[in-house]
Amino acid sequence: MKYLMSLILIAALFVGFTGITWSADAPKIDVAKMFVEKKCNSCHSIDALSITKTNANSKAADLSLVGKVRTSDFLTKYLKKEADIDGKKHGVAFKGTDDEFKAMVAWLAGLK
Ligand code: HEC
Repeated sequence: MKYLMSLILIAALFVGFTGITWSADAPKIDVAKMFVEKKCNSCHSIDALSITKTNANSKAADLSLVGKVRTSDFLTKYLKKEADIDGKKHGVAFKGTDDEFKAMVAWLAGLK
């Protein structure tokens, strides 16, 4: 009986541990998918990732190499409309959670 109890205890601990490991994992966000879901691609292409802008008349930059010219600090401010490019703020405000926003900025800064 004691043996069975310890077995159950060990099993419970194991499940507990794996549960903790799972929940401690940072949420995985597929940013390329989010970029399209949030319709960033209505104005911006990212040729390097085969993402094509859906509005052919859009003059917005291709973002394939945006991480070469912009830091994540700048992108954080710019996408919150707290910084300008050529005296202009970004036309659209980012809508989403903080985690999504951080993931987006990190991903953009990594495009180089
Ligand atoms: C209505 C059109 C439009 C949409 C939608 C849009 N943008 Fe933009 N974006 C622009 C324009 C215009 C600029 C400024 C000129 C430029 O750099 O292309 C710009 C600039 C940027 C820049 C800076 C590019 C540079 O030149 O360094 C980034 C990064 C960016 N947008 C990301 C995004 C993200 C992420 C989304 C989706 C959440 C998004 N944009 C949605 C029009 C748009």
